Amino acid sequence: MAEVAESDSSQPAKARKQSVKIREMTIDDLGDVFHLGERLFEARKAPNTYRAWDEYEVADLFYSDTEYCLVAEHGDEIVGFALGTTINKNRSAWKYGYLLWVGILPEYQRSGIAERLFYRFKSIMLHDGVRILVVDTEADNDAAIGFFKRQGFGNPQEHVYLTMNLDQERQRMKKREQGN
Ligand SMILES: CC(C)(COP(=O)(O)OP(=O)(O)OC[C@H]1O[C@@H](n2cnc3c(N)ncnc32)[C@H](O)[C@@H]1OP(=O)(O)O)[C@@H](O)C(=O)NCCC(=O)NCCS
Repeated sequence: MAEVAESDSSQPAKARKQSVKIREMTIDDLGDVFHLGERLFEARKAPNTYRAWDEYEVADLFYSDTEYCLVAEHGDEIVGFALGTTINKNRSAWKYGYLLWVGILPEYQRSGIAERLFYRFKSIMLHDGVRILVVDTEADNDAAIGFFKRQGFGNPQEHVYLTMNLDQERQRMKKREQGN
């Protein structure tokens, strides 16, 4: 911890970057990572990401894939995270690495912290025999797409989410139940 400077958001981005430490996530970081994600994955801007992000997602990933969960720390503050997993397909020699979540505190963005997290993440994946890395994000998340492209990701494939509102049906069902 000694090499980590105290958090000071008035520091210029480059100076802050130098004192940000990338390390493995620990159980004590669970709450901080979850709350940082809550700030980043907003319902209005990123509805699908918002729905998928909850405390169970973070805890499940941490317990099942601890080695693929990294944080960026400045002083005693968690300012970023990268959480992933690997996928092995039966009867296939390919091992996939999946970077499920990456997020940086807004005041710390564009200072290369996600890049440092990704560099560490990729190195762990390489050591674990991963041959293909996968990421996904909302189609209008220009920041994430710009970031992933910069890291070398390509070959984008479209995927469509559809929703169905069950509210009226649920209310009718409740009324029927109350009538019985
Ligand atoms: C995407 C995100 C993680 C990038 O983090 P970051 O720390 O700001 O990224 P870096 O500073 O390491 O950026 C490295 C490079 O990626 C590209 N990049 C990063 N942010 C970008 C943006 N907003 N627009 C376009 N390109 C961008 C640039 O090429 C950048 O290099 P440069 O600053 O020298 O031009 C960050 O914007 C974020 O937390 N977004 C909200 C959460 C999110 O949507 N996560 C992705 C889905 S899980």
